[in-house]
Amino acid sequence: MKSKIKQTIIDSTTSKRLILILGFAGTMAIAISLAWNIKLDKNNIIEAIRVQARSAYEKDIVYRRWNASHGGVYVPPTEQTPPNPYLDFIPDRDVITTEGQHLTLMNPAYMNCQVFKLGDEAYGIRSHITSLKPIRPENAADPWETEALKAFENGAEEISSIEQLDGKDYLRLMKPLITEKQCLKCHEKQGYKVGDIRGGISVSIPMDVQWKIMNTHRKTLILIHFLLLLVGGGSLYVGFLYIKNSEKKHIHTLKELYESNSFLKESHNITHLGTYALDITTGFWTSSEILDEIFGINSEFVRNVEGWLEIVHPDEREDMQNYFRQYVLTEHKQFDRKYRILRIRDQKERWVHGLGKLSFDELGNPIRMIGTIQDITERKRASIKLKTKIAQLKRLNKNMIGRELKMIEMKKEVDELCEKAGLPRRYNITDE
Ligand code: HEC
Repeated sequence: MKSKIKQTIIDSTTSKRLILILGFAGTMAIAISLAWNIKLDKNNIIEAIRVQARSAYEKDIVYRRWNASHGGVYVPPTEQTPPNPYLDFIPDRDVITTEGQHLTLMNPAYMNCQVFKLGDEAYGIRSHITSLKPIRPENAADPWETEALKAFENGAEEISSIEQLDGKDYLRLMKPLITEKQCLKCHEKQGYKVGDIRGGISVSIPMDVQWKIMNTHRKTLILIHFLLLLVGGGSLYVGFLYIKNSEKKHIHTLKELYESNSFLKESHNITHLGTYALDITTGFWTSSEILDEIFGINSEFVRNVEGWLEIVHPDEREDMQNYFRQYVLTEHKQFDRKYRILRIRDQKERWVHGLGKLSFDELGNPIRMIGTIQDITERKRASIKLKTKIAQLKRLNKNMIGRELKMIEMKKEVDELCEKAGLPRRYNITDE
């Protein structure tokens, strides 16, 4: 019983531990999911900006290619667009139309620089054409660009990362500019050949707007995960309370059961009352400890009908067998007999009183018999002793009455003799 309570406590401790583990695992899973989602969102945003930077670069390239395919284009020189000093090796850098219009040659890089300025003013997207060997000093590469250009020399096709420019986050992306045939017109003199890396264009897109969007996403993600945690944790807590409560109830019931059980056992002990349950269909029965004690059997004893008949005193065996078959099994009456047994343990003769009640299936066939067997040896012995004592007493009594009669007879004779001798009657006994 104690061990059953212990088992219950162990069981529920296991469940409690399981809940704890579940809670821990759940919290971990939610934390991992949150971290994962935050990272994924950031990656997605960066990837989207990268795509934007790439397409800005592609467009620059297309403009350049158009310009380069014409070997440069002529535009009217202005204050912002003075004739390019780095083109002075070209004889017709500056031309005058037949109408007297002055025109100056604009090479792709020069055009790029101007377009980039417009883009920066309009969209905040910074672009820069650069080289490790710049012709124009303003085109010199910054440290990040230098690294990228070196990487291109080693075969890289694109470099991008989040970098700080003037204290603000930018996504920087850079791709190389490869020397093509039409570039040689102006760049051959620097020693470039087709396929050489002439330089590159870097595109830098500010991330502040993106970071703002990302923060909003992040707040939503945190809220959702917090709710998840709340719901998960809440249900686990409810489960925990439920287990605790049912454990309490279970132990209470077990204790009650234990108390009533031990009470029953105690009373059976006092009255030498054993109990059994017989499965009629199999012929096997189970027995209480006290019944085992009465029959003098141990756990190895085969508890079936034959086993029972083996316990019954040989003189009564046949009779009991018939009684059980006929009276109980056939006529469905209650088993109620006092009979002798030979206790298995020591082969001592004992008296028992057996009672048994049948239960039936829905077709009315007996399936079970439960009942009690009481050791009545002491009672029986007492009653046998009583019988002999009474018989003795009766015998004694009878003897005493005989003596009394004899005395009366003798007294009568004395009286008669007195009369014959002429003396007064001594006892004066008369026949009535
Ligand atoms: C019409 C002449 C001309 C043509 C054609 C030309 N470039 Fe240039 N390029 C120049 C000049 C001049 C500069 C110097 C910087 C400037 O003008 O702003 C320059 C600058 C550059 C720069 C910037 C780095 C630096 O040295 O200042 C790169 C990169 C570049 N060119 C690549 C190319 C490529 C690639 C081609 C072919 C697709 C090409 N150029 C075609 C004239 C030309």
